Amino acid sequence: MIQAEQLTKIHRRGETEVAALRGVDFEIVDKSFAFIVGPSGSGKSTILHLLGALDEPSSGRVIVDGTSLSDFSVSERDAYRRNQVGFIFQNFNLLSNLTAVDNVLVPFLPRGVPESLRNEAVELLKSVGLESRLTHRPNQLSGGEQQRVAIARALLKRPGYILADEPTGELDSATGREIFGYLRALHEDRGTTVVVVTHDQSLVTDSDVVIRLKDGSLEPNAAS
Ligand SMILES: Nc1ncnc2c1ncn2[C@@H]1O[C@H](COP(=O)(O)OP(=O)(O)O)[C@@H](O)[C@H]1O
Ligand SMILES: [Mg+2]
Repeated sequence: MIQAEQLTKIHRRGETEVAALRGVDFEIVDKSFAFIVGPSGSGKSTILHLLGALDEPSSGRVIVDGTSLSDFSVSERDAYRRNQVGFIFQNFNLLSNLTAVDNVLVPFLPRGVPESLRNEAVELLKSVGLESRLTHRPNQLSGGEQQRVAIARALLKRPGYILADEPTGELDSATGREIFGYLRALHEDRGTTVVVVTHDQSLVTDSDVVIRLKDGSLEPNAAS
């Protein structure tokens, strides 16, 4: 479970300070499909970075399974980021000179890849419908296909949490819905907690957790 307790974040750019988060509380229980929604600049990416330990709050805490990320040692934070969290980005972040399979294996390449892991990468690519694209490079793939490679990459380490920042932001709406279909299927199959930032509220369903932001603060849910 992830809990945010009075999270604030002030970004400093030279002399100017931007209060990106102004005391935000929420919790995301395990196996949730959670959305962070809100207008541009409302603090959505800032939250995702804090949840993934890519950045530190100015005050407040992110608590994962009962332990505050700020109480982790450097190596524990590293291990959390590397093993527990799978990131998916708007612009896919694939390496242009690598095949789809090798892009999925990227997090493991420095340590060497046993055959069993390579087979698992292939299985994951099949599960997102890319069985005929295994040796294609990113420039030979459509945007939707590239994002499916990125989903497979995020899942290979069997993370507890998938954190996705506007994963369909660069895709047309039909392809975006398709990507969400894969995310939801993998969420159902594996029980991975998914936290996804989006502009598109039409993707939210009744059973999802919704964190609504405006100007760095929570907005009450319309239904409550
Ligand atoms: N690294 C940064 N330095 C300075 N200001 C930042 C930085 N990152 C974000 N901000 C500012 O913080 C606010 C929230 O940003 P962000 O979390 O990216 O919002 P969103 O993802 O909802 O569009 C914005 O006003 C943005 O300009
Ligand atoms: Mg953003």
